[in-house]
Amino acid sequence: MTPYPAHRLAVAPMMDWTDRWCRLFHRRLSARTLLYTEMVTAPAVIHGDRARLLGFSPEEQPVALQLGGSDPAELAAAARIGADFGYGEINLNVGCPSDRVQSGRFGACLMQEPALVADCVAAMRAAVPATVPVTVKCRLGVDDQDPETALDALADAVLAAGADALWVHARKAWLKGLSPKENRDIPPLDYDRVVRLKARLPHVFVGINGGIADLDTAEALLARGLDGVMIGRAAYHDPSILAAADRRLYGAPGPDADLFQVVEAMRAPIAAHLAAGGRLGHVTRHMLGLFQGRPGARAWRRILTEGAVRPGAGLEVLDQALAALTSRTQPTAA
Ligand SMILES: Cc1cc2nc3c(=O)[nH]c(=O)nc-3n(C[C@H](O)[C@H](O)[C@H](O)COP(=O)(O)O)c2cc1C
Repeated sequence: MTPYPAHRLAVAPMMDWTDRWCRLFHRRLSARTLLYTEMVTAPAVIHGDRARLLGFSPEEQPVALQLGGSDPAELAAAARIGADFGYGEINLNVGCPSDRVQSGRFGACLMQEPALVADCVAAMRAAVPATVPVTVKCRLGVDDQDPETALDALADAVLAAGADALWVHARKAWLKGLSPKENRDIPPLDYDRVVRLKARLPHVFVGINGGIADLDTAEALLARGLDGVMIGRAAYHDPSILAAADRRLYGAPGPDADLFQVVEAMRAPIAAHLAAGGRLGHVTRHMLGLFQGRPGARAWRRILTEGAVRPGAGLEVLDQALAALTSRTQPTAA
């Protein structure tokens, strides 16, 4: 088994959200948190525009590439390409419930086919260097599966095939009748089931995901024996929670990332992106929630949203949005 780093916190893979600009921004909030790409299908990696789909900056590391697929040979080829691009981990999606994904026979419906998933993992494991972990992100089960047996069956199969870590979204997926969005909220969360999996597999990295909104909850789950916590929507909508992650979850000395310095540190990559013909909003759309709950947060969000769509929008929009954050100029209480 490839040793898996002690990733106590990860930002979840999220399609349309965790692109390279989002990851660069999140990295400036936390040096340690593991960041995931959006899911990329194996055929897209093999046949698509690799620079666009897989390109990333070394500054984003540690960053894991998530693949979708169920053809072992395709996944092996895609995993090798990902490792060659420099990704620090290759992850297989066994959790996405969308129709598009089900028709391609991958994502969450693979919970019903542990032997096939194991073949995929074995092929991926054999295709990438031993230093690059191959991991699986899965659900507790799907539809009428019993999570007690379904999760164990999937976990045992992929571990026997060489998986180096498991990340478990702690709810079932219902493949019929629920949209992907509903499938992130409606099937009930069951953290205890993931804690039991970890207790049964003391030597395996088991991370938990689903509905975790803050670092207090993350710490409480780690205290229950889980190895890592993966946060999706909460980290995206309120990225400032990442600012305390290095100190609170990794024991780094601090101080926590200063949100204004994080914005300053985004100027250079934004300028480079604009110079290369990119649009301001590609980057700033991920930063809208940064000052959530602070004075001026609404103006920050509005100015960035409206300003970024103007033709030729540049860094002056960021300056205007910053100026609207009244907290910066308010005297602090003695
Ligand atoms: C917009 C969006 C896109 C997502 N895309 C993916 C994906 O590409 N791969 C994946 O495994 N999960 C995906 N998910 C699910 C998340 O990774 C995560 O499992 C889920 O949101 C539950 O975690 P949370 O409650 O912390 O958000 C997505 C979630 C959202 C909100």
